[in-house]
Amino acid sequence: IAELRLNELFDVRLDFGPAIMQHAETLAGWSDSDYNLTCAYLTPAHRKTAAQLADWMLEAGMQVHIDAVGNVVGRYLSDAPGAKTLMTGSHYDTVRNGGKYDGRLGIVLPIAVVRHLHERGEKLPFHVEIVGFAEEEGVRFKSTFLGSTAVTGRFDLSLLEQCDTDGVSMRDALAAAGHEASAIGAIARDPADLLGYVEVHIEQGPVLLERDLPLGIVTAIAGSSRYLLHLGGVASHAGTTPMTMRKDAASAAAEIILLVEQRCSQGEALVGTVGQLQVPNGSVNVIAGACTLSLDIRAASDAVRQAAVDDILDGITAICARRQIDYQLELLLSARAAPCAPWLMAQLAQAVESVGIAPYALLSGAGHDAMAMAAITDVAMLFTRCGNGGISHNPLETMTADDADIAAQALLHFLRNFQPK
Ligand code: GLV
Ligand code: MN
Ligand code: MN
Repeated sequence: IAELRLNELFDVRLDFGPAIMQHAETLAGWSDSDYNLTCAYLTPAHRKTAAQLADWMLEAGMQVHIDAVGNVVGRYLSDAPGAKTLMTGSHYDTVRNGGKYDGRLGIVLPIAVVRHLHERGEKLPFHVEIVGFAEEEGVRFKSTFLGSTAVTGRFDLSLLEQCDTDGVSMRDALAAAGHEASAIGAIARDPADLLGYVEVHIEQGPVLLERDLPLGIVTAIAGSSRYLLHLGGVASHAGTTPMTMRKDAASAAAEIILLVEQRCSQGEALVGTVGQLQVPNGSVNVIAGACTLSLDIRAASDAVRQAAVDDILDGITAICARRQIDYQLELLLSARAAPCAPWLMAQLAQAVESVGIAPYALLSGAGHDAMAMAAITDVAMLFTRCGNGGISHNPLETMTADDADIAAQALLHFLRNFQPK
């Protein structure tokens, strides 16, 4: 025991930061684009990223496999008879032109911590499983959380027929990457084996930065509704069609975008975004005959979110009726807000205190794999401070090696002291 205590003292001086930052940097070297970091589901860059994560997990003393949906799964096994599993992880896909830490931090940071335990021959009374989720962002196909829903047994198999913008179906993309789509159902984990799921993630916002805090503990993840809205007007001559005789899909879209902005400015912890907007086959001299836009509406409270969604959908109906525009609404996601488990939050708070930081609780406006995992086990999240004013989903996303180290020290303490519910 004396030796263990001594080693724990030495741990305080061990700096995890540089290795974590270096690993995030290495992964950022594989991209679908020559100009920025884009790592979409099952592209060559994505598969290389998976292989690298698997190598690091192996080096860290874990049992590793890549499952049928592309999740990279590493298990640091316990010797304890009947040991159950504490799961951690995050996603390794990125948005287009994304940052280096969104998702990846929650994989490379626990790997660094497990490697440390392994190098010391230190076993825990439970298995630690790190999952690099293959897909969370919904960039290549329209659906999100493909990796984590497979783990929870909630992967919708009808999605296999969805096609990317090049017309490649998810089923074919999986086959091309060497995955067996028919094995996705078998990924589902038995909730009885799980002690919980704890995800480390960069905050992606300015709250911790403004409070001068390196770490924060998430109280809940905001719920989210996503739609694709297809507007149909009449494409006609821009020079000859009088202003009063137009059915302009782009003008209808403009009104709808402002409606989303106005309605979502009235509600607590409510946000609404139109992040995609297209006039398919548009020309400078043709009135927009069609327009497609995305809607993303989020709130801490499901009731607040639903009220905003209802008002916006009513508004769309009214705008389209007045402008004689046809519309079709495609629901992409409806995810309830996911509260974090108080017992896990309390243990994370102790871990944060152990590294000399006052525990600070905050809401996550961003979606995370923890949201999906909450369907089968208790979840919690540890946020790290996001630099550059808190910008994320942007190449300017940044964090410091010091903060990575502090988060890793906190996770190490959390694992060593973890008490199942
Ligand atoms: C995921 O990054 C999301 O919150 O959209
Ligand atoms: Mn993201
Ligand atoms: Mn993320």
